[in-house]
Amino acid sequence: MEDIYGGKRDVMTAVMNRIIRYIEANGKRHEQETGNKLYEHLSCRIKSEESMREKLARKGLEVTAENALHAVHDAIGVRVVCLFIDDVYETVRLLKDMSGCTVVQEKDYIRDAKPNGYRSYHMILETLENGEKYSAEIQLRTIAMDTWAALEHELKYKKSLENTELIVQELRRCANELAACDVSMQTIRRIIKEA
Ligand code: GTP
Ligand code: MG
Repeated sequence: MEDIYGGKRDVMTAVMNRIIRYIEANGKRHEQETGNKLYEHLSCRIKSEESMREKLARKGLEVTAENALHAVHDAIGVRVVCLFIDDVYETVRLLKDMSGCTVVQEKDYIRDAKPNGYRSYHMILETLENGEKYSAEIQLRTIAMDTWAALEHELKYKKSLENTELIVQELRRCANELAACDVSMQTIRRIIKEA
């Protein structure tokens, strides 16, 4: 089977590493300046051959390297998991300042949660590497949002649901409770800081 990324994996990895190093460097600086961690953890991946093929087919796109790299924007994915909501927005601000990268799309699912309760901040960054354009999807969320997304993702694949409505409702309730905790934790941090 021909590589879905047409031999561009190394370049994609270089782009991904550049973004990761930028976030890590800023995390280090932020911690030195404030004494607080900017994020809890970072992860990244190149979308697997299999799921990229599945995604292109699902979107009715031809399964080509050109489409894998340019018609969809998450061949390169980075996830930043923060402790507090404020830190998510601070990381967003830092990413907007990253030289050589342009933010071409932002979706604030923290301010406007998806109907199922999903919360995260998504941005698509565009950058040049070896004179060619690459995009990367950055997902930023709190630990609570990440917990919910991981659990919901797991459930989706294991249930052929009869009482879907109830399950959707319960998942949304859990998401809202976690969101309320995030706000409380943020408030507690502020109170401690001001004390
Ligand atoms: P695709 O879903 O990638 O076709 O694009 P889109 O334009 O719908 O992007 P969106 O911002 O909605 O979601 C992109 C990614 O966010 C997904 O691939 C997931 O990783 C994550 N995501 C979005 N919605 C959910 C959700 O309801 N649950 C979970 N667990 N993850 C989600
Ligand atoms: Mg989607």
